[in-house]
Amino acid sequence: MSRFEQITDLEKRYLLQTYNRYPVALEKGKGVFVFDFEGNRYLDFVSGIGVNALGHAHPRIVKAIRDQAAKVIHLSNLYYNEYQGQLAERLCQLSGLDRAFFQNSGTEAIEGSIKLARLAGHRAGGDAKCRLVALEGSYHGRTFGALSLTGQEKHRKGFEPLLGDVTFVPQNDIAALRAAINGNTCAIVLEPIFGEGGILECSEEFLRECRALAAQHQAALIFDEIQCGLGRTGTMFAFQTFGVVPDILAIAKPIAAGLPLGAFLAREQFATAISPGQHGTTFGGGPLACRVGLEYLAIVEEEKLLENVARVGAYLTQQLQMLVDKYAATQGVRGRGFIQGLVLDIPARPLVEQGLTEGVLFNATQDTVLRFLPPFLLQEKHVDKGIRVLKKLLGKKRKKQQNVESAA
Ligand SMILES: Cc1ncc(COP(=O)(O)O)c(C=O)c1O
Repeated sequence: MSRFEQITDLEKRYLLQTYNRYPVALEKGKGVFVFDFEGNRYLDFVSGIGVNALGHAHPRIVKAIRDQAAKVIHLSNLYYNEYQGQLAERLCQLSGLDRAFFQNSGTEAIEGSIKLARLAGHRAGGDAKCRLVALEGSYHGRTFGALSLTGQEKHRKGFEPLLGDVTFVPQNDIAALRAAINGNTCAIVLEPIFGEGGILECSEEFLRECRALAAQHQAALIFDEIQCGLGRTGTMFAFQTFGVVPDILAIAKPIAAGLPLGAFLAREQFATAISPGQHGTTFGGGPLACRVGLEYLAIVEEEKLLENVARVGAYLTQQLQMLVDKYAATQGVRGRGFIQGLVLDIPARPLVEQGLTEGVLFNATQDTVLRFLPPFLLQEKHVDKGIRVLKKLLGKKRKKQQNVESAA
């Protein structure tokens, strides 16, 4: 039995069968590459769904983990640790928000955000000020609160009843947004760029309207930047790309370079709604994860990775657009920086599987979108490799006529 068969056999017997994994078992990684147990190398355009922004085995991250693990990994929130306040300070400096709370995952960061918004809502307008507005097609996580805000039937089905106080509006539909918000709204929750939903951007106009309506109704504007934040758009936070500042910001994925850590940040006006004992966590904000979080932010700054994301991201857009111009199975390119999608006319999963045999990890979302969430270290030559593989896999070229039409 091969190592791959041993691994998959055990999983089939002993794990809840919730994942539809790709047929590869990965052993290790280095930079923008990962390796399977046979030693085959794969160029990584997925970074563990947006987590490994620093690639794999970054020497400074390895050193910080080694060093801190030898000192102390976990203490609980009964005691102070050296790094939680430092990481909160840095995130507040970078975002302009005032306070942070650390969780263990993106979903938990959303849970904490809506709990805080509920408290602030009740304080401002009594028990009735509890309603949430979220977007159709969004994704916020799998727990009951986060799932209640997730506007996709396929994730919600089978788990009802969920929170009943959520109104969904279509992304970028300002009239529907205005109709959904009233004095009982305590929060508007949205991803500035839908990740799981297929790399769809909110328009600046829509975001500005959300900002204005939230202020008008004393509701919290919550941005879920779990996938699009912390550098992926080429600015530290996606809201800085769009120029609209939220009241509460949920982040996670890359912050501790692969260790589980999420956080929500809040403006003082909302942060003061919570009192001791109203929220907490055993693991969240531990010294190991927070120290690595500080190292993550320092590396992004010192290695000028945001500049790299902006430059190589623009190159990726240009190269993907070139595929759209040439290949019949493609429809368009969405997103920016290192959060982009190539929209196809055909199912994306078979392409991802074929990509494996060509030594590249791609990712599919919403059936027909090939999603790119590469490590921030990715260079033009890596984009070229990915594009070469896609050219091979995409098959038929457009007829000349179609070419002319798409250019018109
Ligand atoms: C936008 C967004 N929100 C929330 C989540 C949930 O985060 P986690 O899987 O860390 O709980 C995700 C995960 O993909 C996400 O992309």
